[in-house]
Amino acid sequence: MTEAEQKVVVITGAGGGLGAATARRFAADGACVVLSDINGARAAPLAEALGGLFVPADVTVEADVAALVDAAVARGGRIDVMINNAGQVGAVGPIVEVDGTSWSRTIAVLQDSVFFGMKHAARAMIAQGRGGVILSTTSVAGFVALAPHAYTAAKHAVVGLTRSVAAELAAHGIRVNAVAPGNVPTPMTIAVYGSDAAMRAAAAARNPMRTVVEAEEIAGAFAYLASDLGRNVTGQMLTVDAGLSACPLPAEYYARAPGYIGGAE
Ligand SMILES: NC(=O)c1ccc[n+]([C@@H]2O[C@H](COP(=O)([O-])OP(=O)(O)OC[C@H]3O[C@@H](n4cnc5c(N)ncnc54)[C@H](O)[C@@H]3O)[C@@H](O)[C@H]2O)c1
Repeated sequence: MTEAEQKVVVITGAGGGLGAATARRFAADGACVVLSDINGARAAPLAEALGGLFVPADVTVEADVAALVDAAVARGGRIDVMINNAGQVGAVGPIVEVDGTSWSRTIAVLQDSVFFGMKHAARAMIAQGRGGVILSTTSVAGFVALAPHAYTAAKHAVVGLTRSVAAELAAHGIRVNAVAPGNVPTPMTIAVYGSDAAMRAAAAARNPMRTVVEAEEIAGAFAYLASDLGRNVTGQMLTVDAGLSACPLPAEYYARAPGYIGGAE
């Protein structure tokens, strides 16, 4: 696959903040975009505006995800990039109070969905025999405890699945990676904080750069991983979080007088 060819790119959760920004980015880069969401209110008009296709799908239903991939292949003649992005916060609350139904629904939306997306994208990509790229949206909660329990567990699972499926599909020239966003203002996170301003203030206060990660930056990370520049990148998580997950100590910690601590030597 060369950059000059029009890529067929499938994005789930394309009606939401990160999915819509990613669809816009790939369309601007010249791709044939296939937008999917359980809710067509935002994704269907966006697909039309981008000259793409809207395919409704509930990512917790394997037959829906299989049909989505097949619709993309029917539209574009092939599938080059699959982005498993749909999600929600899911079950919240203390571990002793989280009910099993909410737990299972969260795992279905955030984890089973990625399995279905990887499985059916791989099926189509292996059949077409020209490689491909499978991407998913994990989270900083895929590495550390920065979200409710079920969400954190599911996003950790996406990290593991990305690595193991990358190992298998490398032989087919299919790369498998994920993007791990920090706190990005989207309908999902704005609902948690009550307003865009409150969300932004909380996000900036939490990371060492004191900045807000925007949806377009996550779209840029997906674009990089899907491009030929990323041709030797597989099994990786690309974190875009202003240092939130890697740098837990405050800057003041590093402001101590220079010296050398040698212990008992
Ligand atoms: N916004 C953040 O700060 C952040 C951080 C880390 C990871 N993420 C992840 O990014 C992804 C996108 O989230 P967002 O912030 O854009 O949220 P969002 O709520 O703006 O978008 C999520 C989209 O997923 C769709 N969706 C939900 N359940 C679905 C289902 N069963 N089938 C199909 N579509 C479904 C929703 O309709 C919505 O359009 C999610 O996987 C989320 O966990 C977001």
